[in-house]
Amino acid sequence: MFPKGQPMRRPVPIGVLISGSGTNLQSIIDAIEAKQLEAKIQVVLSNRADAYGLVRAKKHGIPVEVLDHKRFASREAFDQAVVDILRAREVELVVLAGFMRLLSPVFVGAYSNRIMNIHPALLPAFPGLHVQKKAVEHGVRFSGCTVHFVNEECDEGPIIIQAVVPVFPEDTEESLAARILEQEHRIYPCAIQLYSESRLRIEGRKVFVDGLAKEENQVLVQPPLKR
Ligand code: GRF
Repeated sequence: MFPKGQPMRRPVPIGVLISGSGTNLQSIIDAIEAKQLEAKIQVVLSNRADAYGLVRAKKHGIPVEVLDHKRFASREAFDQAVVDILRAREVELVVLAGFMRLLSPVFVGAYSNRIMNIHPALLPAFPGLHVQKKAVEHGVRFSGCTVHFVNEECDEGPIIIQAVVPVFPEDTEESLAARILEQEHRIYPCAIQLYSESRLRIEGRKVFVDGLAKEENQVLVQPPLKR
């Protein structure tokens, strides 16, 4: 069951961790303001003082924290400081939105099954960095994005939701990244809402979504079969 033995509070108190532009953060803010997402952002935390996402948060009156990882002696010390802030702010679910740091067991253990990440590829294909470039160079016909729970391996945890986009032969890293990002902004708020409704159940590697209409057999073929 998920989360382990914790009573669910709604709107679910979340902490959003960023390192950069924060367009996913913006999509979460917008979904909350549009009342499509029952979550409250307790804090936006960045490891970079110049992350534009901090400006976005401040515009909406959301508390921000900056914690420069370079000031800490180890990854574990930094992670413990982040966890301390999240706990002090009573964060229940941690939402990684372009947070460019690997999490140590200190962090993952403190928020076990309560950390989500979004990745701009169809995991387990293309984990890691620069994945839109790698997808274009590999010549795949489809890519997309994945929201998953975070475990101790990078981009490896149980998958909650994925969106698929076509990749065209003439695509560049930038054009593909833009197409994927549009879908990221749709699926991330949706995944958080499923959590807030206590509808996500983790069993082994799989995430089951309670109360879904039967999933459809949607087949995509690219290039299309018709001439
Ligand atoms: C997104 O592509 C996300 O998938 C990845 O980092 C990027 C963050 O973009 N993890 P933004 O800061 O939300 O605009």
